[in-house]
Amino acid sequence: MSNYKRTLITSALPYANGPVHIGHLAGVYVPADIYARYLRLKGEEVAFIGGSDEHGVPITLKAKNEGTTPQAVVDKYHQMIKESFAKFGISFDVYSRTSAKVHHETASEFFRKLYDKGEFIEQTSEQFYDTEAHQFLADRYITGTCPKCGFEKAYGDQCESCGTSLNATDLINPKSMLSGNVPVMKETKHWYLPLDKYEPWLREWILEGHKEWKPNVYGQCKSWIDGGLNPRAVTRDLEWGVPVPVDGADGKVLYVWFDAPIGYISATKEWSPEWEKFWKDPETKMVHFIGKDNIVFHCIIFPAMLKAEGSYILPDNVPANEFLNLEGDKISTSRNWAVWLHEYLVDFPGKEDVLKYALTANAPETKDNDFTWKDFQARNNNELVAILGNFVNRALVLTGKYYNGIVPDAGELNDYDRDTLLSIASLKAEVERSLDNYRFREALKLAMDMARLGNKYLADMEPWKVVKTDLERVKTIMNTCLQIAANLTIVFEPFLPFTMEKLRSFLNMER
Ligand code: MF3
Ligand code: ZN
Repeated sequence: MSNYKRTLITSALPYANGPVHIGHLAGVYVPADIYARYLRLKGEEVAFIGGSDEHGVPITLKAKNEGTTPQAVVDKYHQMIKESFAKFGISFDVYSRTSAKVHHETASEFFRKLYDKGEFIEQTSEQFYDTEAHQFLADRYITGTCPKCGFEKAYGDQCESCGTSLNATDLINPKSMLSGNVPVMKETKHWYLPLDKYEPWLREWILEGHKEWKPNVYGQCKSWIDGGLNPRAVTRDLEWGVPVPVDGADGKVLYVWFDAPIGYISATKEWSPEWEKFWKDPETKMVHFIGKDNIVFHCIIFPAMLKAEGSYILPDNVPANEFLNLEGDKISTSRNWAVWLHEYLVDFPGKEDVLKYALTANAPETKDNDFTWKDFQARNNNELVAILGNFVNRALVLTGKYYNGIVPDAGELNDYDRDTLLSIASLKAEVERSLDNYRFREALKLAMDMARLGNKYLADMEPWKVVKTDLERVKTIMNTCLQIAANLTIVFEPFLPFTMEKLRSFLNMER
């Protein structure tokens, strides 16, 4: 891991305005978990951070639609999300929430520090206001046409179609989400982070310094930086959120995308008194796992905040994924088009690893991808069962039959044995190289190649025939098979943790 001493893995904090689905898992939490488990397996020091994003308009809109309070909404979904992740074995070191006291304090102090350093521009301007709802309209309270790509349902802070981060006043034909009315303009004061000031630095840091980032990530960054960056409001006229900690800011809270990424810091604090070595030591490698709609916030805005603050490290990589579709259609909470994790857990108990396998084998790493039940079934039957299960099963059954389950000593190896064992070692190294480069699909395929090799070895050696003529030779064959099985428990551990735990117990292996 080059010059780094430890790794800080963050995974996007999901909005606690609904349950989590396969798109969340495939895009963020499964790859982050694989990476965390891989590093831990190598004995490295890791902090794997998660939590719920409990502020912002997604929450208050949900509360309004359900006729309840924002607090009730986040309490309900935070529990649900946390439980789904736990059952899927997402191995967070901490899963926190942004309504936590430690987060309010941390976000508040962060803002205050930038404020005291004079890093903000204070500005009064005209913003959209809904005269019927008596409310300013920011972020998801307002929709309109994206000035960049023409998508008609862009939000006031971002177009989810092209990913561009917007200011509400950029929208064409703006409309209130509260009343459906065309808003009026009204004056209000806010604090802005002058992103334009960070442009030369961002250009140098990302465009010159991080050419190794995934092309989709690098490309998005380049197009924003080349397009010119503008000051961005980091406060809002809302009641739900972290109050702006300065005089004259009554009724104002921090913009959700200002406080949420600070949630990574708060969660680390909640987890360990040694949180600072993860955030302030340049020998810590920070990696953000996110979906593509979060790129601008993690590559431009949050780094600019960290840079302005001055005492924090910056991400080493941001391996963002594209989106996962379901049966050819965009996953949608409002249209209820999703495979919800809490429902999967009830419908397929004990099959958590199978879903994680299918999602990784088909991960949207370089382009949007499609989840189909047909593919899920095929991955299970033709790969997990027919290749991995088949090999391991035969190795164990034959060892039981010939040697009462005791591992036989190997005799002299022939060329074929030696080549096989060498291929196993080089596959293991290739799996590592792929994981080091955030190529999870490729790593999984290489791991499965190891099981394929095991099957080929067994089929070619035919111990069930040799046993009739050469008992000594069979010992060597079975010993080799068991070595392959032991290696499989290692390469598959990050991907199929529950299954490998079982396999290790069959093999009587310690971790
Ligand atoms: N809640 C956001 C989303 O679902 C992600 C927040 S990531 C964080 O898109 F960095 F802000 F925490
Ligand atoms: Zn757009």
